[in-house]
Amino acid sequence: STSQSDTLRTPIVAVLGHVDHGKTSLLDKIRGSAVSEGEAGAITQHIGATAVPLDTVSQMAGSLVKPEDFDLPGLLFIDTPGHHSFSTLRSRGGALADIAILVVDVNDSFQPQTEEAIDILKRTGTPFIVAANKIDTTPGWNPQEGEPIQKSYEAQSQRARSKLDEKLYEIIGELSDMGFSSDFYWRVQNFQSNIGVVPVSALTGEGIPDLLGVLMGLSQRYMKDEMAIDVAGPGSGTVLEVKEERGFGATLDVVLYDGTIHAGDTIVVGGANDPIVTEVRALLQPRPNAEIRTEKRFDKVDEVRAAAGIKIAAPDLEDAMAGAPVRVVGDRDTDEVIREVEAE
Ligand code: GTP
Ligand code: MG
Repeated sequence: STSQSDTLRTPIVAVLGHVDHGKTSLLDKIRGSAVSEGEAGAITQHIGATAVPLDTVSQMAGSLVKPEDFDLPGLLFIDTPGHHSFSTLRSRGGALADIAILVVDVNDSFQPQTEEAIDILKRTGTPFIVAANKIDTTPGWNPQEGEPIQKSYEAQSQRARSKLDEKLYEIIGELSDMGFSSDFYWRVQNFQSNIGVVPVSALTGEGIPDLLGVLMGLSQRYMKDEMAIDVAGPGSGTVLEVKEERGFGATLDVVLYDGTIHAGDTIVVGGANDPIVTEVRALLQPRPNAEIRTEKRFDKVDEVRAAAGIKIAAPDLEDAMAGAPVRVVGDRDTDEVIREVEAE
């Protein structure tokens, strides 16, 4: 097919923030899952990836995301851990991102890993928006399930509204201390020079239409050139995890951030010792809206285009490492690709 959404790369959206501020819950609300509830010790300990198609985004966002206004195929969300011991994973997630959501609990405002996340985004030059989460915990809050924030605000008492505004201004002040000008997102004209703060609740879904609307608008407007790269070229990705799968042996959970990968392709993967050169035996794709970390049913596919979370089955992957690069060789000289992988 030649529709434009086949040639545009899916934007990668990393979700970053302090432990327990609600990153996984926010994604659960968007994709209609309960990953957060199943987590050991109730904390995230790996990077996740979930492909959310445009029709799901527009269903969640209602009138704020009309599918006919967009030619992006959807969004690939990357979940990251907020616990202080996982800073490597946060950096890795941040490095993959085209755009990021910084999740801040309105009751806790900025915490050490909030600041760490901002430092990562500064370092990688990643544009971001702030999801000011847990607005439903504002004293006297009158929840408006799944509604845009304006409608939700209109249903609140003057007292609840000003309590929330107070907390939002605290976040705006913290951002200013870190060198960013920001405002309530509906007042932001230029999202490149001003950070938009979007009040949300991962519990009630309030404000999530706005969050998705801003993300889609930003991706479409400012990043279209980056998304229009040649996704037909040889694939590049990063290993999230090396996992044993029954019938396949060691497999790789990978975020493919560029190009295309096919079953049968020769790939080079960073290993504990030397780079591994192997051939893709099977490409296993999680269903739409499924978190690759917890997905049990994968569809066997012939090819996958960036961006996507994909499980790769191939011989000799035992020594592959989380964080390592994955490159499809394609028409290139294998030695050249090996040197590229060694250099990373
Ligand atoms: P880590 O991945 O470990 O950093 O945590 P996280 O940011 O993914 O937080 P998680 O989604 O696991 O949520 C932490 C706790 O906050 C859970 O008990 C959630 O139910 C709760 N929570 C998350 N979002 C909201 C919200 O909007 N409102 C309320 N009331 N509780 C929330
Ligand atoms: Mg989490």
